[in-house]
Amino acid sequence: MRAVGFDVNGGPEVLRPVEIPVPEPGPGQVLIQVAYAGVNHGEVLHRLGDYGPPDGIAVPGLEVSGEIAALGAGVTGLAVGDPVAAYLPDGGGYAEYAVAPADFAFPLDGISLRDGGGAALVLTTAYGVLAGAARLTAGDTVLIHAAAGGVGSAAAQIARALGAAAVYGTVRTAEKAEYAKRFGYDAVLLRETFAEELSAARTEIDVLLDPIGGATRQAGLSLLAPFGRLVAYGEAARQPDLTLPVLPFSRHNRSLTGYSVHDLALRAPAVLRGHALAALSLLASGAIRLDITAELSLAAAFQAHQALQAGTNRGKVLLALT
Ligand SMILES: NC(=O)c1ccc[n+]([C@@H]2O[C@H](COP(=O)([O-])OP(=O)(O)OC[C@H]3O[C@@H](n4cnc5c(N)ncnc54)[C@H](OP(=O)(O)O)[C@@H]3O)[C@@H](O)[C@H]2O)c1
Repeated sequence: MRAVGFDVNGGPEVLRPVEIPVPEPGPGQVLIQVAYAGVNHGEVLHRLGDYGPPDGIAVPGLEVSGEIAALGAGVTGLAVGDPVAAYLPDGGGYAEYAVAPADFAFPLDGISLRDGGGAALVLTTAYGVLAGAARLTAGDTVLIHAAAGGVGSAAAQIARALGAAAVYGTVRTAEKAEYAKRFGYDAVLLRETFAEELSAARTEIDVLLDPIGGATRQAGLSLLAPFGRLVAYGEAARQPDLTLPVLPFSRHNRSLTGYSVHDLALRAPAVLRGHALAALSLLASGAIRLDITAELSLAAAFQAHQALQAGTNRGKVLLALT
């Protein structure tokens, strides 16, 4: 089958078309004929080597949509031909066929294959960060960094659906701020000045979504309301992790929490599945939507990676396999 992979870590140019065997679904797994593969920042980090060097050819791709082509032993509740969105904890989505745990293959009731291709990782993460890690409650004020990206644009809408009273975002450029307004933010601020602007307006944050790290994380902590929660779920700035003193947390009633979809997949798959189903039902009902801004061929995956690595992407980027 056709796939795109890499056998050495490096820039987007290490991604190349490869021919590899169709994978076999093991017990508890399903084989999916991929229609769309979402492109995610995590796959950029995979390629760069943050998850270690490849052992042979590594095929990235953490989320896909498509029809089930075969069932592994012991799989119930799914049938060959069913359209699904799937989260692939071990990657493999940039390919004509991919294997997913049956627990993370979600029926696409009322959702198109196109939307489903950018949903299983992105929406599950946005929902899990807000409802799980941050314990969002109705009336909370939320601040979302990388507000125009895949997870950020979904999180803004999910936060509102879960009852947030105010939702602010930050981005790096004025163009992205303008673009992100479509997701219902009360205001989208520039990353360079967000802390000064929000503190000058005396806006305190109950839930702060931080996939950036570094100086941005440090600046965000000072904005937390009493019992406010900052969720660390990424390090897009690729700066060394911060050593944060604990005393300011107790002095100012702050909380720092974390989120990892991969850890949930290993240690709490039922929780992850619950978050995915809740988020997908919001998509099916029209309460939230995906803004798919680019649909590229499989062979053009490196272009999608160029955009995500440079941070010039907006909304959701897909690879179309059909
Ligand atoms: N922990 C988990 O389980 C989990 C799961 C999924 C995603 N994530 C994380 O969530 C974040 C968003 O993921 P996504 O796939 O939806 O990507 P995305 O938001 O569509 O793209 C990444 C964004 O990060 C921002 N960014 C900030 N500093 C950057 C830098 N130095 N280089 C490149 N980008 C930079 C850019 O937005 P600005 O221009 O606004 O800065 C960029 O658009 C990523 O950090 C990802 O690793 C974590």
